[in-house]
Amino acid sequence: MKEKKIAILTSGGDCQGMNAVINIIVRIASLRNIKVFGIMHGYKGLYEDNFIQLSNEMVENISSLGGTILKTSRFLEFKKDSVVKKCVKILQQREIDALIIVGGDGSFKGAKELSKNGANVICIPATIDNDLRYTSRCLGFDTAVNNACKYIENVEQTMEALDRGVVIEVMGRYCGDIALYCAVSTACDIIALPENPINEEELIDRVKYCIKEKKKIPVVVVAEKMFDVKEIAQTLTKETGYEFKYSVVGYIQRGGSPSVQDKSLAMQFAVRAMELIEDKNYNRALGFNNKIFDVDLESALKSEYNFNYELLNLFYLLNYKK
Ligand code: F6P
Repeated sequence: MKEKKIAILTSGGDCQGMNAVINIIVRIASLRNIKVFGIMHGYKGLYEDNFIQLSNEMVENISSLGGTILKTSRFLEFKKDSVVKKCVKILQQREIDALIIVGGDGSFKGAKELSKNGANVICIPATIDNDLRYTSRCLGFDTAVNNACKYIENVEQTMEALDRGVVIEVMGRYCGDIALYCAVSTACDIIALPENPINEEELIDRVKYCIKEKKKIPVVVVAEKMFDVKEIAQTLTKETGYEFKYSVVGYIQRGGSPSVQDKSLAMQFAVRAMELIEDKNYNRALGFNNKIFDVDLESALKSEYNFNYELLNLFYLLNYKK
């Protein structure tokens, strides 16, 4: 019987748990005599035919590491039809039965193009932004929120000691999940996020309300790009008479060891991916909604917006009602 060969790549922004997925895939494959190739630097490496064969020894002790041993890239050329076609050809020449793609929204769109051109793909949602809407959890999100919360709590303590306010920016391009879960898990008073944007005037209003009614100089959490945090901190200082600092959480959100939740998610995603490959059930996207599931890749990408407005409304209820 022909030997089975699979490949795996990590794509887009790295996140915690990618290495844990690679570790489990390689270990299961070795038990089943399946050859696994790692493709370096995501879709860029696929285009450049940059494959390495992975062994158990190579993935030993990587599960707790942030980043990805396969490296990743944002490879915009992948939008070109000719690039996709060349990639499919490389997979065919190498006789790869299935390609596991670990990444976010852009990576899934790339995967769809590969599958339309004849490749067999399995997609694992991995992005700290948590912005793939068919699944309630993406790999990396839980760790990123935990990292950001620790940072916010440290900042809160020093601000409180000096009676200062602070505006803290968290990651999440076009998606407020990190901001929301950080806000409800810390002593944050005000939130600004794309799912319910507020303008400068509204923000000033909420800050003044917090000072007057809660007798607290507020901690404001803003999702990336909602405000220029430096400018808005200066404005709040002028408007309130209290000193406001700003702070950007930045890349500590995306690095470091995956949380227990992300490690167990990584393991479950990897196991299901290998089951699907065994069953030749390709072009599926994995998700988690209290339990692991898989859906057709096309429908995953068309999925409805599933932002947790209930949680946001609870936050509003506790913080803004007069
Ligand atoms: O991977 C998601 C993310 O961290 C976003 O939250 C952020 O906007 C973006 O990536 C930053 O990307 P890069 O590191 O490529 O600038």
